[in-house]
Amino acid sequence: MYQQKRNRILRSNPSIRNLVAETTLTPHDFIAPLFIDEGENILHEIPSMPNYYRRSLDLTVKEVKELYSIGIKSILLFVKAKDDTKDNTGKEAWNKNGLMQRSIKAIKDACPEMLVMTDVALDPYSSYGHDGIVKDGEIINDETVEALVKMSISHAEAGADFVAPSDMMDGRIGAIRKGLEENNFTKVGIMAYSAKYASCFYGPFRDALDSAPGFGDKKTYQMNYANRIEAIKETLHDVEEGADIVMVKPALSYLDIIREVKNAVHVPVSAYNISGEYAMIKAAAKMGWIDENKAIIETLTSMKRAGADLIATYFAKDAVKLLG
Ligand code: PBG
Repeated sequence: MYQQKRNRILRSNPSIRNLVAETTLTPHDFIAPLFIDEGENILHEIPSMPNYYRRSLDLTVKEVKELYSIGIKSILLFVKAKDDTKDNTGKEAWNKNGLMQRSIKAIKDACPEMLVMTDVALDPYSSYGHDGIVKDGEIINDETVEALVKMSISHAEAGADFVAPSDMMDGRIGAIRKGLEENNFTKVGIMAYSAKYASCFYGPFRDALDSAPGFGDKKTYQMNYANRIEAIKETLHDVEEGADIVMVKPALSYLDIIREVKNAVHVPVSAYNISGEYAMIKAAAKMGWIDENKAIIETLTSMKRAGADLIATYFAKDAVKLLG
C-alpha cells in the first residue's frame, strides 16, 4: 500500500536540520597553507589570491600564533626561493640554512604544539620550475627521488612533523620513508599527494611562489584529469610504501575521486582546496555574484561530505571565524 512519506519533517527548522546533519566542519579539519618569503616585515598580497599573503618569517611566526589561538592546529609550509639559489638540481631544497629549514625551526620554537607540514617538491628551487630534475627536456624520476629524500630529511632535521611530497614521482614515498628510518626520524609522518592532477587551477599558487614551469607542462608526472581508476592505483601504492595520510588534489572538480579514495584505503584522506578554487570564489564574490561566506562553507562541507577527513585550504581562518 502506498504510504505517504514526509521527508520535509527533517528539514522543517534549524534544530532538526542540525540534529540530523550528516557532515559538520570543525577547526580541527583544516590545514592552513602558508607562503614564506625572505626579508623582514614583508606582507605581500598575492594578486590572484585577494586577502592571502606571502610573509617574511617574522610575520609568519605571528600568523602561526594567531592561527593556533583560533583553533587551527596544523599548517603546510611553502617558501619562495630567491632566484639566485635556483638551479636544475634544486639543491637549495636541502640547504640546512635554507628559508624552509629556518622557518620550520622558528615556528616550532614559537609554537611547539602547531603541527608543521612541509611541501616536498623541487619546483620552487628549480630553474626550470619543474617538480623534478630535468635532463634532455624530460623530468627524470629516480634522481629526483634521491633529491626529494634529501629534502625530506632536512625538513625532519629542522623539526617538521610531516613531510608532504607533492611531486608525483614514482617510488618517492617508499624512498622517503626509508630515508627517514635510516636517519632515525621514526616520528615524522608522510602526507602523500597521492592523486594529484595536472590542473589549470594551480595558476594563482604559481604566481605566489613564482614557480610556473619554464617549458612544457606537468602532464608527464601529474595525473590526467580524465582518469579515476589511476587515482586508486596511485593511492594504494603510496599507502603500501608507507604514507600516513593520502591526499587528493585539487578538491572541487575531484569530489568523486575523494570518495573513491576514501572507500579504497584505511588511512586518513586529505583534500587540497587549491589556489584556483580560492580565486574563483573571491572573484565571483567581488563581482557581487555569489555570497562569499556561504560559498566557503558550502564548498568545504562538500569536500568533507565527499570523504575528506582533513582539508588544506586558504579559507581555513575565514572558515573558523564563520563556524564561530
Ligand atoms: C608544488 C605544488 C603546487 C601546489 C602545491 N604544491 C603547484 C604545482 O604542482 O604546480 C598547488 C597548490 C595550489 O594551487 O593551491 N609541487
